[in-house]
Amino acid sequence: MAYLSEDKRKVTTQRLREMKQRGEKISMLTSYDYTMAKIVDGAGVDVILVGDSASNVMAGNQTTLPITLDQMIYHAKSVVRGVQRALVVVDMPFGTYQVNADEAIANAVKIMKVSHADALKLEGGAEILPSVKHIIDAGIPVMGHLGLTPQSINKFGTYAVRAKEEAEAEKLISDAHLLEEAGCFSLVLEKIPAVLAQRVASEVSIPVIGIGAGSGVDGQVLVIADMLGMTCDFSPRFLRRYANLFEVITGAVGHYVEDVKNCDFPNEKEQY
Ligand code: KIV
Repeated sequence: MAYLSEDKRKVTTQRLREMKQRGEKISMLTSYDYTMAKIVDGAGVDVILVGDSASNVMAGNQTTLPITLDQMIYHAKSVVRGVQRALVVVDMPFGTYQVNADEAIANAVKIMKVSHADALKLEGGAEILPSVKHIIDAGIPVMGHLGLTPQSINKFGTYAVRAKEEAEAEKLISDAHLLEEAGCFSLVLEKIPAVLAQRVASEVSIPVIGIGAGSGVDGQVLVIADMLGMTCDFSPRFLRRYANLFEVITGAVGHYVEDVKNCDFPNEKEQY
């Protein structure tokens, strides 16, 4: 298959840091399966996130909370098989790192051993620091995630923009520094004011990837099904749709159904 990207070198956490240093923006997208990951990697995305948004996108759950460790490992293994260049980061699912640092490291090691992914992502700041440190001490790269952290939706009660008030913004800045000091290689900031995200990106030396966090950060991430226009019931302001696959797929499937009903498919050349 012809890869669209010229640069075939494997993306590493070190290369992401160098990209920040020279002001090159980092592209990141989610993937949950082999076929999509192969396309996304071939098109040149730098980081592929096996997001726990698989819970919504792949399984139809209302939140990310129900997805299990084994389900995340299944998605991660499928993605890793399709990727040659991008850094593959896997979300640790809800409940697998919040109980204590010993459980966190056991679950982190299991994901890395079985999936062969490159790094893990954990949601939260000071509250989960012991787990973050323990995992990094074991040699596993960790990406932090602050702002709107969907695993805490039941605490927030809403998917609205986070850290608009000063107290929450100050905590987010402090958490970003704590995560950097703990050794995180990167940080996702979700749905926070652009000015705050820009401030965090300028204060920390690790790459900051935004989703709904404006353009003043070091890179952007979107959920693949949203940016390809497969989902049409989700239209936050930050989402740019690069295709309308909902229409394309509906049209193609409708055409197929019509052809079968009309005995137009298969034709003579499409049989043995
Ligand atoms: O699970 C996910 O897709 C994410 C992104 C929205 C950053 O965490």
